[in-house]
Amino acid sequence: MNTTLTIAMSMQPSQANIFGNIHGGEIMKIMDTAAGSTAVQYARKNVVTARVDELQFLHPVHVGNFLTCTGRIVYVGTTSMEVYVTVDVENLFLEDGKRRALEAFFTMVALSESGRPTPVPPYEPETEEDRALYERVKTRRAFDSKRREDAKKQVGG
Ligand SMILES: CC(C)(COP(=O)(O)OP(=O)(O)OC[C@H]1O[C@@H](n2cnc3c(N)ncnc32)[C@H](O)[C@@H]1OP(=O)(O)O)[C@@H](O)C(=O)NCCC(=O)NCCS
Repeated sequence: MNTTLTIAMSMQPSQANIFGNIHGGEIMKIMDTAAGSTAVQYARKNVVTARVDELQFLHPVHVGNFLTCTGRIVYVGTTSMEVYVTVDVENLFLEDGKRRALEAFFTMVALSESGRPTPVPPYEPETEEDRALYERVKTRRAFDSKRREDAKKQVGG
């Protein structure tokens, strides 16, 4: 079962403001694409994004930077998958290596052909790091489901 997927590309002027900073929305789109592709590759089904947890931009991304965005399945419910998405950037003209620009957890839900949530294969963490991420997400999901119920009530859902 494939649990990781990486997208890599150079940042272009069309993705930036006039000072050469890449727009946050451009990076979020790449992250969403990586999360979706990671989940499709795992489930072999269509998926939608149900939730994105806190996004913090730790370092600016500039035109010409080489960006590597990696999605990793870290938790699976019945029809939903949690994908840990990391974004690292580097200047390929220098030897100063990669730095973490941002990271986030995306909740992706698999859909059947009729567009309803459908089960995905179970996931078992294997390494110590897998287990740590699994437990972190499990704890957060318990808290989220209460918040979701409250939000649904507020919008009359
Ligand atoms: C995501 C969506 C399919 C869930 O539909 P739903 O009828 O609420 O489905 P359910 O209540 O049966 O939940 C299905 C799973 O999604 C999870 N889920 C649903 N809404 C969620 C949310 N806001 N945050 C986190 N998880 C969520 C549930 O926990 C459940 O997980 P599990 O099966 O692993 O236990 C529906 O809300 C939707 O279509 N949202 C819009 C998605 C979208 O358009 N995204 C942007 C484009 S990709």
